[in-house]
Amino acid sequence: MKNTRIKTSDLKKDDQHSFAKPQKAIITHLNWNATIDFETKTINAIAQFNIQKYPNVTEIILDTKNLDIEKIWRNKDDSVDFVLKEQVEILGQALHIPLTKETETISIQYKTFPDSEALQWLSAQQTAGDSPFLFTQSQAILCRSWIPIQDSPGIRFTYEAQVKVPKGNLAIMSAENPQEVDSTGNYNFKMQQPIPAYLMALAVGDLEYYKTGPETGIYAEPATMEKAVKDLEDLQSFLETAEELYGNYRWGQFDVLILPPSFPFGGMENPRLTFATPTILSGDKSLVSLIAHELAHSWSGNLVTNATWNDFWLNEGFTVYFEYRIMEALYGKDYSEMLASISHKELRGEAKELIDNGNAKDTHLKLDLAGRNPDVGMTAIAYDKGYFFLKYIEELTGREKFDDFLKQYFTEHAFESINTEQFLLYMEQNLFGKHNIPMPKDLFSNWVYGSGIPENLPKPNSERFRNVEQSIAKWLNTENIDTLKCQDWSTHEFLHFFHQLPDSIEYSEVQALDEKFDFTNGGNSEILAEWFLLSIKKEYRPAYGAMENFLINTGRKKFLMPLYGELAKTENGKRIALNIYKKARQNYHYVSYNSLDKLLNYQTD
Ligand code: BES
Ligand code: ZN
Repeated sequence: MKNTRIKTSDLKKDDQHSFAKPQKAIITHLNWNATIDFETKTINAIAQFNIQKYPNVTEIILDTKNLDIEKIWRNKDDSVDFVLKEQVEILGQALHIPLTKETETISIQYKTFPDSEALQWLSAQQTAGDSPFLFTQSQAILCRSWIPIQDSPGIRFTYEAQVKVPKGNLAIMSAENPQEVDSTGNYNFKMQQPIPAYLMALAVGDLEYYKTGPETGIYAEPATMEKAVKDLEDLQSFLETAEELYGNYRWGQFDVLILPPSFPFGGMENPRLTFATPTILSGDKSLVSLIAHELAHSWSGNLVTNATWNDFWLNEGFTVYFEYRIMEALYGKDYSEMLASISHKELRGEAKELIDNGNAKDTHLKLDLAGRNPDVGMTAIAYDKGYFFLKYIEELTGREKFDDFLKQYFTEHAFESINTEQFLLYMEQNLFGKHNIPMPKDLFSNWVYGSGIPENLPKPNSERFRNVEQSIAKWLNTENIDTLKCQDWSTHEFLHFFHQLPDSIEYSEVQALDEKFDFTNGGNSEILAEWFLLSIKKEYRPAYGAMENFLINTGRKKFLMPLYGELAKTENGKRIALNIYKKARQNYHYVSYNSLDKLLNYQTD
């Protein structure tokens, strides 16, 4: 550890996932003027940037991927020859634009292609209603596939946009949003707080708005809205609870967009407008911790941002910690301990798998993702090891001091990007140093720069999960399924139930479970995914029809990877997987099919 405070400007030099050279010239504001064309599945746009450059700098470099760059000019109309460098795998192409002393703005006229990686163009059949839909997913480095931009989490800019869409559609962005359809199809947007490119987002479709409070509301397709409101009606109290913990919410509005089921993630923290999968709509609010998670990103991630994807745990570990704190405040400690127990299990499983596969370095909190797609950093390490590290520090210092420290950290670093070393140093000084609390000697080498799971990993204590375990034991001992006491189980208890079932469980027991609970025809996606996993392991065929339906209709990568992966373990299963995949692939976003193509060795023609 260095002893000097590292300046934010220093670390802007080395984001290995961007071609930008921020020490030469950076973008400070984007004015995006775009036309959305569902017929050709293209966006035609002009991206105009205000730029800031250091003296004598003669060019600015942007990131692009698979864009048709038509024309570039400086200031009002000073047309310029640009250089689009060769394609680099994963990263795309660097766009070099020459600058003069007088250059204040650059404008880029361009088109996207139908297979742009960030964009998913859905036909009417792929939505809940009867009109087509478009949404974007920019994190981690896909913004460059729909906007030529400096696509690094260390570079922030404000933006405004004018977007033209076919009449009847609503367009919304990670910005100040309309709440009603405009009959001309023209929409204006503004994001006044500086954000990194991975938080650029757009959705267009037949959408309506439902207000849940003065600063909160829901966007959804009309056919989905009633269901969405049932689970998300408490959004306003989520926001208020979070503010009590971490200080003011700095983004004005907090809305949630419920997307069609092909959305590849559970949630995405686009500022002012979280994107969420419809698979959290369980009817009983039991999966809303995902909303607490995306809301928590309004502090950890969106306000104070990981400087590079190697520091991803600063985004996700903090956010999981906050998510559990929000859930504890709203639903009590016995609830948040269930969530922590699930993290504990996931962390143990994933750390073991990474180490067994020779990837021990990927179990460090500080990652080294050079040359790889940063999405490979989306493991239980960033999320759950990150969470337990912070939980451990909370235990060392006491909650009150830790909370004060966190509030101060977010206030002092608001709208900045920060790397792991800066955070650790800041914590050493402003938490341990300030209160004269001895910092364990190997704290950082164990947790941040070391492999596997530290010995002092906090152990969650969930009584509700212990009851589940006892219930399983009783059932398997008595062989009487009616001894399973699960009338009051939440989704999490059911998930724990599946995680705890011994491998030796028999086909007849799986059958008995289905007879009693009718899992095969259930409506809760998290439980369904666990059930189908068990069904594949035990070759429980009566569930396969429902599983095929599920795989065709859901694009959420977290469900798809384990299910296809389990199927692919046997020859027969692999055949089934490929048959389903052929039909389902067209419903998946690039993020999902890119990973599944590799998993299944699927060749496209
Ligand atoms: N920011 C992430 C999603 C993400 C990470 C997208 C990396 C692309 C690259 C989001 O906040 C997230 O963590 N989503 C989780 C849900 C959460 C409750 C753990 C998800 O989608 O499963
Ligand atoms: Zn997250």
